[in-house]
Amino acid sequence: MKIGIDKIGFYTPHLYLDMNKLAVSRDIDPGKFTIGIGQEKMAVPPVTQDPVTLAANAAYEILDEADKEQIDFVIFGTESGIDSSKSAAVYVHELLGINPNARAIEVKQACYGATAAIQMAKGHIALNPESKVLVLGSDIARYGLNTSGEATQGAGAVALVICADPGIMALEDKSAYMTADVMDFWRPVYSDKAFVNGKLSNEQYIAFFADVWEQFKQKSGLDLKDFEAITFHLPYTKMGKKALKPVLEDAPEDVQERLKANYQISTGYNRNVGNIYTGSLYLSLLSLLEQKEDLKPGTRIGLFSYGSGAVGEFFTGILQSNYRDYLKTENHNKMFASRKEVTVPEYEAIFEETLPTNGSTVKLDTDADPAVICLAGISENMRQYVNKLK
Ligand code: CAA
Repeated sequence: MKIGIDKIGFYTPHLYLDMNKLAVSRDIDPGKFTIGIGQEKMAVPPVTQDPVTLAANAAYEILDEADKEQIDFVIFGTESGIDSSKSAAVYVHELLGINPNARAIEVKQACYGATAAIQMAKGHIALNPESKVLVLGSDIARYGLNTSGEATQGAGAVALVICADPGIMALEDKSAYMTADVMDFWRPVYSDKAFVNGKLSNEQYIAFFADVWEQFKQKSGLDLKDFEAITFHLPYTKMGKKALKPVLEDAPEDVQERLKANYQISTGYNRNVGNIYTGSLYLSLLSLLEQKEDLKPGTRIGLFSYGSGAVGEFFTGILQSNYRDYLKTENHNKMFASRKEVTVPEYEAIFEETLPTNGSTVKLDTDADPAVICLAGISENMRQYVNKLK
């Protein structure tokens, strides 16, 4: 039985910051951000968007009534969750009207969360072939104003429907993974910003890719020539390039050229959104599928997932015959085209706007946010959400 990705939804907030302008205001050469890091624009989440609403908006785009009946498992991968007890999946389940006979949980391992969710979903479908699983990867990446990580912030979510006989991509069974206790990036529960050892995180990412790739080759007997493209978790778009480069060195020239060209295409959306942590790998996959129109059904795509701390995994999928019919390319083009630029002072003010933590009531202006699903306020420490169309 084939199991894999049937639909992919994506949502990013309606505001963005131009990285050239951020660089100038920080007294940095813009080339460092646009070439050295590889980011053009950074999504800026208004206070009316949080990881729950981002995920709900991404899923809202793809779910029809039949999906809502068939989904019996909602798995939410996030590392910027809003509650240490209640899962973000329960809120999304309610906001989208998914049938009550479903499980709803949150999983965490930095940017690896959504990949863990997909692997769990695969097992669930193998046992229950009639089911569908909704996997969400949603995050707001916050390092802080004037920090070295600032240029690698971002916000957004992907939503994936995993089921049997998938429309977009069948996931293959061979997979290589590893875990090592590394303090490269972490966020203690008392902090709303991540702590990071930037240099170590880059080194670990590269080392993990090299390791799981070697492991995968041994397990599968496949080599680079068997791949049309390899997509990466992209904390910033230069990162995957750095990891791919040493691995490509021994490949034939034509294979190197193909993988390099397709890597570049797979960075398109990420370059204009920034890091979305758990969803980032799947945003890169989406960039490739939606922007390279001549990708052939039957070809194999590699996926490298890296979650600091750290867990890494390399796995693969085969594009299905009518996969283009399942994409929402038009919606995503419109979403990018309708975004509004904010100035650096506006971004800084939005960054510092936070919700009260003393139980007081705040009502937020959801009319200023074009998203269908918004955070409407907070009262007695309970977030209030609204689906404007429900
Ligand atoms: N024009 C062109 N390029 C320039 C330049 C210019 N004017 N000035 C500098 N550069 C280049 C540098 O040569 C360097 O290139 P290489 O990496 O190819 O050598 C690049 O710009 C970055 O410069 P620095 O290394 O000096 O940058 P930095 O030390 O200020 O910070 C960073 C970079 C470590 C990525 C930092 O932004 C950071 O800590 N980000 C958060 C952590 C992160 O994203 N880690 C990635 C791996 S961990 C992971 O993947 C999980 C996750 O999601 C967090």
